[in-house]
Parts: sequence; structure tokens; C-alpha cells
Amino acid sequence: MKNLFGMKKLIGILLACVMIFPTGCGSTSPADDKIDIGIMQFVDHPSLNEIRESFVAELALLGYDESKVTIHYQNGNGDFSNLNTIAQQFVGDEMDLIVAIATQSAQAAAAATSEIPILFSAVSDPVAAGLVESLTAPAGNISGTSDLIDVTAIFDMARTLTPDVKTFGFIYNSGEVNSQSVIAQAKIYCDANGIAYNEATVTNSSEVQQSALQLLSSSDAIFAPIDNTVATAMPNLAKLAIDQKIPVYVAADSMVKDGGLATIGINYTILGKETSAMAVEILEGTDVGTIPVKVMDTFVKVINQTTATALDVAITGDDFIIIE
Ligand code: TRP
Repeated sequence: MKNLFGMKKLIGILLACVMIFPTGCGSTSPADDKIDIGIMQFVDHPSLNEIRESFVAELALLGYDESKVTIHYQNGNGDFSNLNTIAQQFVGDEMDLIVAIATQSAQAAAAATSEIPILFSAVSDPVAAGLVESLTAPAGNISGTSDLIDVTAIFDMARTLTPDVKTFGFIYNSGEVNSQSVIAQAKIYCDANGIAYNEATVTNSSEVQQSALQLLSSSDAIFAPIDNTVATAMPNLAKLAIDQKIPVYVAADSMVKDGGLATIGINYTILGKETSAMAVEILEGTDVGTIPVKVMDTFVKVINQTTATALDVAITGDDFIIIE
């Protein structure tokens, strides 16, 4: 409540009272006393856009439409320092709630305020990212939704679709904590199943081409986790791999749309909706730190038909969502 009716609001209400009711304060809220929600997003990427659009649409359906809420949306364009600036602006402008999409946004928001409630979305590993101490009891001013994936399920699927793969190549940004924990699990899987692996790390999306070429020359298949940096260069990575007839397994449906062969991932529209349901709880007075992190438990199995055809991979099983 302290945040919802912060200094800015208080001054606004007092001013309105003086103007409308010179002799005392009435019960009518001033017309411009809307709830301010700052949405910060790390990169302009289809999955992240999908979350934001779904969040805003669902929030309106839940009663918080533009008559009640002003959405302030800022994109970091893939640069961490931009995110710090955005987070500080949101704090300076006294947002009532900050919604931070992707790990890096959430980290910047958490560093900027311990007062304003923060809801993160699509953070693969909120504990490893240092955002919450536990998923069930986040504490502090932060909670949110996670797009944690089932790495074992993805590799089991890969072994069914392309059973001859002996060596995987992992490509990711070593600075993205969300990728580190997924790659750690991928290594455990490969070690346990007698699969060899190489890895190539990048620090920005312009390095993906060179790392991809290096990996493609030494691997039978590529695995790319939900890495903001690699996802941004996914169309290029997919093209290079298809040219060499090598499958790229990914961790988000948008990366399959961009030419990756297949994934088992979460639905980002649903993730956005879950995030808005949590936002409503907070706007209606629940302390954000008492709301457990929501981890998605329904997954979609997605395959790219065009890529499968180019790689001569037969789509086995009828549970795939097929992208042409
Ligand atoms: N999970 C990522 C993170 O924790 C964000 C993310 C979700 C993402 N889906 C994506 C990034 C798709 C790129 C592409 O930061």
C-alpha cells in the first residue's frame, strides 16, 4: 500500500482536494490518479513481446484497463547498462509496480529498488539469478513467473528424432545466468547418456555466426538454451545449420519459428497471463514477497516442418505442434 499511494500520489490527491473541495477532501479520486506500471524488457524478441502483450491484454480483462492503469514500456535493446537506466527512471518516477521481462531486466530492477514491488517474467532460474532465495517464499519486494524448461525432455526428444547424434554443440552467452543453469543440466544429461559435447560461448549476438560455424564443424547437432543473445541471432544460426544439414534443438517456440528444428517449451501467452494475475493480487494489496514464484508446468512440443524436410528428419509422434 505504501508504494501504491506513494508521495507522488499523495501530492496529487492533496492538490486535487484543494482544487475540487477547497474546504475539505471528498471521496472522489482525481481523474489522473491512475496506477503506473513500468514494464522493462531486455530485448525486442518475439517471445518477450508475446509476454508483454499478453500481460497488458489480460490485465485489462481483469479490470485494470487503460482507464485505471498507465503502462510505461521501455526496452533495453539488449544492453545491460540501458536496463539500469530504465530501472532508475522507473524508481524516480515512482511506479506503483515494475514488471521486468527476462533475467537481466529483473536483476536491474532488483538492484534499483527494495521498495517498489517487482514482478519478473520469463526468468529461467530466479534463484541462480539471485532474485529470490526460494521459489516458494520469495520474500522482499520481488516475485514473478519462470520459464524453467525440462532439459531432459528436450534431449529425449532429440534422441528420438535424430538418433545418430553422437556429439552435441552448445551455443550460449556465458554471461547469461539463465543459460548457464540449462547448459549445466544439458551436460549432466549428455554425460549420463554417453553423448559427447562441445561448447562455444558468445558475449553478443554479432559473435553467433563465427561460434556457430566453429561448432557446426565439430558437432552432429546443436543445442541453444533460452539465451537472449543467441535467440536474437537465431534466424542466422538456423540458416547456417540447415546449410550443413545439422539440426538445432532450442528451448523456446519462437526459436523453432526462426528455423530451429524442435523444442519442448512453455507457452509465453500463458506466462504473460499468469504474470498479470499476480499483478492484480499486488495491486489489490497482497505483499509481493508472499506470492510464490509461478513455474509453468504445461509444455508444448513444437517442430519446424520446413527445417525437418531440409534435414530429412521424419516427424514421429502425433503430439507435435507443427510450424510450417
Ligand atoms: N528465459 C530468458 C531469461 O531468463 C528470457 C526468455 C524467455 C527469452 N524466452 C525467450 C529470451 C526467448 C530469448 C528468447 O532471461
